Amino acid sequence: MPVGPEPRQSSALALAAELLHAGELVVFATETVYGLGARADQAQAVERIYAVKGRPGNNPLIVHVKDAEAARHWSAHWPASARQLAEVFWPGPLTLVVPADERLPPVVRAGRPTVALRVPNHPVAQALLQTSGLPIAAPSANRSGHISPTCAAHVLRSLKQPVGLILDSGPTQIGVESTVLDLTGEYPRLLRPGAITLEQLSAVVGRVKPYLAPKVAPLDDEPAFPSPGMMRKHYAPSATVCLFDPDEWPAVAEEIAQRQAKHEVIGILTRTVPVLESLRHIGLPNDPTLFATKLYAALHDLEEVGCTWLAIEAPPDEPAWQAVNDRLARASAEG
Ligand code: TXA
Ligand code: MG
Repeated sequence: MPVGPEPRQSSALALAAELLHAGELVVFATETVYGLGARADQAQAVERIYAVKGRPGNNPLIVHVKDAEAARHWSAHWPASARQLAEVFWPGPLTLVVPADERLPPVVRAGRPTVALRVPNHPVAQALLQTSGLPIAAPSANRSGHISPTCAAHVLRSLKQPVGLILDSGPTQIGVESTVLDLTGEYPRLLRPGAITLEQLSAVVGRVKPYLAPKVAPLDDEPAFPSPGMMRKHYAPSATVCLFDPDEWPAVAEEIAQRQAKHEVIGILTRTVPVLESLRHIGLPNDPTLFATKLYAALHDLEEVGCTWLAIEAPPDEPAWQAVNDRLARASAEG
């Protein structure tokens, strides 16, 4: 159902809140990507998320709440760093991992003693949290291992099972998933890079342990792995992805020509290499924020037209590009 710019007045929103209360799944927009939501305080409702996504049971969910006070309510301990970060970055694309309140069903946390909490900054997400009065567990609304959705059409294409309702409010703004920060150790630790950068976090809480990009795919059940979502192959289109540096373009162009001669359907994503017409070639903005906004839609589009091999021009290895580079490294990881 469509939701307009005044979500609180839309009948779709009232229905969505009703469905959530009844333990059904509701897909809604956040400022990052679309989420597949269920009431977080009811194990049976949360179990449906795992079933519909095909998500491994060891990968915990993010619990969305309406404000910092509600986040505190669902945590067993709310450290000073959480208070400071919430003040600066909430509502917004930052998820904080803290010790969980025992009342949150273990299935939301995948059995862990911690919970990931986030106050989203999107009118539809906010209206849904306030109207329902519920904490809402919501992973990205894609089938497990697929590209995250940045519009309602992506959700329909990716999920193979029906949900209660999809609230369609158009494309999301940020385009990559929230920054995830673990506050349960001696120092805050970056578990997933996102729109809020390490530098921004450090400016508020001092030392932050940097993100360790997984080099080797760990086992699914690796207990020592701090965040199961860090598994290397994760944000993956169905095509094989070849990441190339701009100066490698002549060689890549040659490989593309050879593959096309064999009738392979090739997709190209670039940011500085000039866009050639007549190819499945999408030019993305050479700016990390704008690139992030459009990346998943471009991957979805190239998948939709049947590309089996994607050549993607790698961005520079710079802090501002960390979130994008992380998603591209995962999309191109083998296995
Ligand atoms: O932007 C976002 O964060 C989107 C929107 C819908 O809010 N949600 C999202 O959820 O990306 P999901 O489930 O796709 O990613 C959640 C990430 C995973 O990497 C998961 O492993 C990690 O957060 N996570 C959740 N709970 C955790 C916990 N207790 N400890 C460590 N990592 C956790
Ligand atoms: Mg996801």
